Amino acid sequence: MAARNLQITRLGSSVRRRAALWLGRASEKMGLTSSEARPGFFDQYPRFYSTSIVNASPERLNERYRALIGSNEQLIREKTILDLAAHDGRWSFAALKAGARHVTGIEGRSNLAESAIATAQAYGIGGERYRFIAGDVFDQIELVQTNSIDTVFCFGFFYHTPHHMLLLSKITQLNPKHLILDTAIDPSTTDCVIRLLKEKVAAEGNSVVGQPGDPLHALVGRPSRSALETMLTSFGWSFSYYDWHRAGIKGWHDLDDYRGGWRVSLVASRRSSEDSPSA
Ligand SMILES: C[S@@+](CC[C@H](N)C(=O)[O-])C[C@H]1O[C@@H](n2cnc3c(N)ncnc32)[C@H](O)[C@@H]1O
Repeated sequence: MAARNLQITRLGSSVRRRAALWLGRASEKMGLTSSEARPGFFDQYPRFYSTSIVNASPERLNERYRALIGSNEQLIREKTILDLAAHDGRWSFAALKAGARHVTGIEGRSNLAESAIATAQAYGIGGERYRFIAGDVFDQIELVQTNSIDTVFCFGFFYHTPHHMLLLSKITQLNPKHLILDTAIDPSTTDCVIRLLKEKVAAEGNSVVGQPGDPLHALVGRPSRSALETMLTSFGWSFSYYDWHRAGIKGWHDLDDYRGGWRVSLVASRRSSEDSPSA
């Protein structure tokens, strides 16, 4: 059954499961779980607290659930979803639980895609409702059929690539009605710029693709808010931000990036060509 849902196109690095478990326990011991954290969706599915070492605290996952899934249920229920950089399947799974008809996840690290399937199976999701593809987003998105996706998730990936316009063009070509985007931005300027940064490909949350001249590092770009908005608008997307400061959050531990405005969440909408009045 796992084989039917997993398509491996390129081998990723090995999972550091033991390290994840150790880190999870260590952070609990160190009191990194805030007492002000509100219970939430992932408390019912605690496997996700140990299948990743990337921002997997209950507080962060549960508040992100409210922002990205809970507040967008109408864009998810009965819809087909494409989850880019699906990681351990946390958001694909959340979408399925929110009533998505089908989810396709693309994840560059095959161990994470395998983990996504194992968790979906463990929590009883029917195999016909999801598919995880292990491979590069830029290659694999090409194989997704145009008009087959209602809503694209692009969570935690837009700042792990220098190819923002290419990514938006490939997403737009699929003709989805909505794009839910969650990304770090460069808050230091109101100028329309993308700041280039280097990141280690060895880190599980980072880019999987190094540079030919420096295979251990990827060159990635962090857009300013203005650059993000300009790029979205250039493809005909209109957008609306999630207001993190009106979300009723009391304990901001582990959410500093959202609180400080250097990470944003938004829903972008675009009238699909099917909806366009005929000429
Ligand atoms: C910061 S994590 C975000 C995980 C999840 N989407 C979230 O928001 O919680 C970034 C993910 O992107 C994946 N990734 C990075 N570069 C990729 C690429 N070119 N193609 C596919 N996946 C990639 C990483 O393996 C990692 O799982």
